[in-house]
Amino acid sequence: MSMSTRAAICRRPGTPWEITDVELDDPRGGEVRIRFEAAGLCHSDDHIQKGDARMRFPVVGGHEGAGVVEAVGPGVTRVAVGDHVVCSFIPACGTCRYCSTARQNLCDAGKNAATGEFPDGTFRFHLDGEDLGGLCVLGTFAQRAVVSEFSCISIPDDIPFDVAALVGCGVPTGWGSAVHAAGVRAGQTVVVYGAGGVGSNAVQGARYAGAKNVVVVDPVAFKRDMAKVFGATHTFADAQAAHEFVVETTWGELADHAIITVGVLHDEVIANALAIVGKTGQVTITAVGNGSIDAGAGTFIGYQRRVQGAIFGGCNPLYDVPRLLGLYRSGDLKLDELITRRYRLDEVNQGYQDMLDGKNVRGVIVHEH
Ligand SMILES: NC(=O)c1ccc[n+]([C@@H]2O[C@H](COP(=O)([O-])OP(=O)(O)OC[C@H]3O[C@@H](n4cnc5c(N)ncnc54)[C@H](O)[C@@H]3O)[C@@H](O)[C@H]2O)c1
Ligand SMILES: [Zn+2]
Ligand SMILES: [Zn+2]
Repeated sequence: MSMSTRAAICRRPGTPWEITDVELDDPRGGEVRIRFEAAGLCHSDDHIQKGDARMRFPVVGGHEGAGVVEAVGPGVTRVAVGDHVVCSFIPACGTCRYCSTARQNLCDAGKNAATGEFPDGTFRFHLDGEDLGGLCVLGTFAQRAVVSEFSCISIPDDIPFDVAALVGCGVPTGWGSAVHAAGVRAGQTVVVYGAGGVGSNAVQGARYAGAKNVVVVDPVAFKRDMAKVFGATHTFADAQAAHEFVVETTWGELADHAIITVGVLHDEVIANALAIVGKTGQVTITAVGNGSIDAGAGTFIGYQRRVQGAIFGGCNPLYDVPRLLGLYRSGDLKLDELITRRYRLDEVNQGYQDMLDGKNVRGVIVHEH
């Protein structure tokens, strides 16, 4: 048995998102069917669509989403029909080496993120006889998708779906980049490069962890204004101005942390970040792109600097997703303010254009059923 569902797909790198009906198989063992209610427009889907990140095509877009479990396959225990869920863009099997040592963001079950195929080599989306993978084996730009139960985290029924969707990627990625991957501590100076959907949450995480100075670099005035709402203490349009400020405010000691969350990673932002951190300073790279580190070993030795890559902000989705929603409830984490605009599924290309034009902290697709 299969059903039809509407989805935004990308057939080849460089072609726009196309809204079409695709065939969706029933859930098999360990899988669930979700009716997605909301999906976030993360920059990573745009990397896939542009062809500058690796992915199998054609692909059903979207790796940030929330919805309701509609059907479960055999043996599913983690969620039940009717549960409201957030989909984590990295699954957490719970038992692999990384899950069992509190590093669920590195779960071995995440290995098919760039193909969208299930562990047995099959796909649940089809179109005209062709298989389609969902981005991160999700596909939240579909009204309905079949996903692994390992990708699902049950949430309380009263959390709005649009804010919940963002806790599938952008919020934990940014917040965790500051709190887990960087390990920001009280009184520190933190510089965040790029205050979009991810960076705004790095700002919130850094502030909540107790940073004294949360310095934001973003060329877009609207992003800098919003960064203040999320807890930035100082904002700058360019890296040079931020550098001068940090030198002055730290009396030359420089920053403790630089966190890179720009839309497209490039060499220059890495060089700027390395130059702005002082002794034992750390650069945390969360942004995706073709940037490379062009620095002699001396950059790292004398000052004991470090560079740390971060996937999913080093979060443990099974713990951090409910925890972040708890912080939202208690007023310690701003989620409503992240959503600048809401779109219908057939407006997805406009949503991405608005992101690239600097108009949104985060755009969200609200699915119609
Ligand atoms: N590592 C992970 O787990 C992970 C997860 C999600 C997203 N990402 C990546 O994180 C990055 C950010 O994603 P997003 O959804 O927040 O994107 P976004 O487009 O919403 O935000 C990017 C921000 O960077 C700003 N910017 C652009 N160039 C800049 C520069 N030179 N200096 C300072 N700011 C600059 C933009 O104005 C924008 O505000 C993307 O590369 C995305 O693919 C990584
Ligand atoms: Zn994402
Ligand atoms: Zn695992």
